[in-house]
Amino acid sequence: MTIRVGFLGGGFIAHYHGKMLHTSGVDAQITLVHDPDPAKAEGFAQASGATITDSEDELLSSVDAVYVCTWTAEHPRLVAEVAARGLPVFCEKPLAVGLQPARAMVADVRRAGVTNQVGLVLRDSPAFGYLRHLIGQPESGRVMSVVFRDDQYIPIQGQYGSTWRADPTKAGSGTLLEHSIHDLDILEWLLGPVTGVSARAGEFHEIAGIEDVVSATLAFESGALGSLTSIWHDLLERPSLRRVEVFCERAYFWMEDDVWGPVHWTRPAGDEGALGGSDLTNALAAAGSAVRNPDQAFIEAVRDGVPADPDFASALRAHVLCDALYRSAATEGAAVVIPGGQPPRAG
Ligand SMILES: NC(=O)c1ccc[n+]([C@@H]2O[C@H](COP(=O)([O-])OP(=O)(O)OC[C@H]3O[C@@H](n4cnc5c(N)ncnc54)[C@H](O)[C@@H]3O)[C@@H](O)[C@H]2O)c1
Repeated sequence: MTIRVGFLGGGFIAHYHGKMLHTSGVDAQITLVHDPDPAKAEGFAQASGATITDSEDELLSSVDAVYVCTWTAEHPRLVAEVAARGLPVFCEKPLAVGLQPARAMVADVRRAGVTNQVGLVLRDSPAFGYLRHLIGQPESGRVMSVVFRDDQYIPIQGQYGSTWRADPTKAGSGTLLEHSIHDLDILEWLLGPVTGVSARAGEFHEIAGIEDVVSATLAFESGALGSLTSIWHDLLERPSLRRVEVFCERAYFWMEDDVWGPVHWTRPAGDEGALGGSDLTNALAAAGSAVRNPDQAFIEAVRDGVPADPDFASALRAHVLCDALYRSAATEGAAVVIPGGQPPRAG
């Protein structure tokens, strides 16, 4: 049975998911799009083959699964509507502009019993997958430290060209929530639970409520310590870029391209090297974990009526960390314990 897919929001990320669905070969058809911005609706319709509808209700009555790709503040209301119809839902990250509405969304989809997935796409990156594989090798020893830098030009310009990211009522806040929610998610995915954080934030662009630089310290349950630096600058030559360095007791790993690597390593006895591109996918396959297309995986979960991954519940952890970091930044870097955990060690 062809799965009929509707899109709420036809902007930048909707195009990405539309392409991912088309190239996956999965048996799905993007049948409808609703976006109050006619140009966005038209652009998405042309690219995807969807029909435009002015009615949210018509869309929800006529599809088998829904993508919520609007600006963040609209996610909770729309997800509640979709779940109330008993429809599977893919929602973009961040789930919501704050922790409480994100929790409510988890409750909504759980109550409705619908398949749900979040656009935390870095978990499907071959480079991060391989880094996780390397970290997990016992001969590397324990992870001692991770240094994570994430920078991009402030996305109210360039290819993103959004105005809503300068509006706290639509975006919630700035670079930490809007962009580095990916990093918080991937840091726990790589290294396990964070037990305490502290952070400082700045607003160089002087847009009230939209921080554009965050420097954070994270303490992991394993004993590892991490730093995360998240920056929105004005250097259009630098779109989204990440550099990650992981220091283990007997290994050092680093990567810059967050999708295709290469992922570099230095290990004892002169073992230095790097893997990138399709070599990464081959190495991961050899290690027993195939790289997947997350949109294909969502549609297959819908088709089979099974849970999808990453679901809203697992995305909630990144919101918990984000909320704790903002609370710390609001008190000039005071240590915040993550429920059940301990604050970062001093020094
Ligand atoms: N996973 C990722 O890597 C990634 C990347 C970019 C954006 N995002 C997320 O995707 C979401 C959208 O970002 P974008 O870059 O596509 O923004 P965008 O501005 O390009 O598109 C958002 C669209 O939503 C539309 N919209 C607003 N309210 C609506 C409603 N009630 N119903 C239907 N449409 C509505 C707007 O008119 C706009 O066209 C944000 O939450 C953002 O954080 C995720």
